[in-house]
Amino acid sequence: MTGGQAPGILALGAYVPQRVLRNEDFEAYLDTSDEWIVTRTGIRERRIAAEDEYTSDLAFKAVEDLLGRHPGALEGVDGVIVATNTPDALFPNTAALVQARFGIQGFAYDLLAGCPGWLYALAQAHAMVEASLARKVLVVGAEALSKIVDWNDRATAVLFGDAGGAAVVGRVREGFGFRSFVLGADGTGAKELYHACVAPRLPDGTSMRNRLYMNGREVFKFAVRVMNTATLEAIEKAGLTPEDIKVFVPHQANLRIIDAARERLGLPWERVVVNVDRYGNTSTASIPLALKEAVEDGRIQEGDHVLLVSFGAGLTWAATVLTWGGA
Ligand code: ACO
Repeated sequence: MTGGQAPGILALGAYVPQRVLRNEDFEAYLDTSDEWIVTRTGIRERRIAAEDEYTSDLAFKAVEDLLGRHPGALEGVDGVIVATNTPDALFPNTAALVQARFGIQGFAYDLLAGCPGWLYALAQAHAMVEASLARKVLVVGAEALSKIVDWNDRATAVLFGDAGGAAVVGRVREGFGFRSFVLGADGTGAKELYHACVAPRLPDGTSMRNRLYMNGREVFKFAVRVMNTATLEAIEKAGLTPEDIKVFVPHQANLRIIDAARERLGLPWERVVVNVDRYGNTSTASIPLALKEAVEDGRIQEGDHVLLVSFGAGLTWAATVLTWGGA
C-alpha cells in the first residue's frame, strides 16, 4: 500500500453542538462528582445536541465545515458513507440524507461498527478508490449519543458527547496517504456494550434494554489490550516503527486508556492528541474531530506519519497509519 498514488485524506471538517454539559451539572442529580469523573476518565465537559438536533444535522454541519475550509472538495465524490451508532432512522440511512443535502451523485450507506466505524469507513473508501469503484468518497462520523444514553446511569451518562466529523478520501500525491489498515472484531464480547433496537435480546439470551449499557471494567481491559496490539500491527504493516509516528490520534474515550496506549508505544504526550476533556466520548466522530483540531493548530504537518486507533461496541477495533498531506 506504499507505492504509487495511494488514497489519502483530501479534506476534513468537524462540528460540535453548542450546549456544554459540565461534570458539575451531574452532581445536582447523580451520586457522582467532578473529581471522580476527571480522575477516572479525564473528561471535564461534553457537548449535547439540541432537542431537535439529530445525527443527520451534526453530519450536515460537519460537511458544511469541511466545505467552508475546502470549497469544491465534493467535486468528484462518487458516494457517501456515514459511520454512526445513532442513525436518525433504521431506514433511510443517514448517508442518503447527506447525499441529498449536498447534491452528491452515487452510493450512500451507513456503517455500524461501534466507535471504530469511521476508521472502518476510511478503509472501505480507501479500497473503493484503489479499485476504481469511486474517484472520491465522503466519509462522515456523526453521533447523537445523548439521545440513547441513560441519564440516570452514572456509570455511562458522564462518558459520552455528541459531534460530527467528515473527510473526503481520494488519491493524493505519491509518498502520501494511507499506508496500512488493521480491522478487527470479537463478537463474543457483544454483551459488554449494547443498545437494543429490533430484538430485545442477543443470540445467547442476554436481554437488552433500549438504552446504552456498558460493562465499563470489561471494555476498559479490552480497550487497553487492542489499542496496544492494533497500533503495533498497523505500524509494522506500514513498514515503520513507533518512533516514526509523529502524531498519535487515539479514540477519545478515557484518558487512562489513551495513556496506557501512549506508554506502550513509548510516545511523549506532545505527540498525542487529546480532547476527551472537552468533548467526552463522541464515538465515530471522536477521531475526525481530534484529527481536525490537530491539523488546524499545526500539530500535524505535511509528511508526518499519523497513527489513528479506535475500539468499541461489537466488540470492534481498527487502526490505520497514514502519511499526512499530498492533496
Ligand atoms: N461517579 C461515581 N462513581 C462511579 C461512577 C460515577 N460516574 N461510575 C461508576 N462509579 C463507581 C462504580 O459504581 C464502582 O463502585 P463500587 O466499587 O462501589 O462498585 C466504582 O465507581 C468503580 O467502578 P469501576 O467501573 O471499576 O471504575 P473504573 O475505574 O473502571 O472506571 C469507567 C469506569 C470510566 C467506565 C472505565 O471502566 C472505562 O472508561 N471503561 C471503558 C469505557 C469505554 O472506553 N467505552 C468506549 C466504547 S463506547 C462505544 O463503542 C459506544
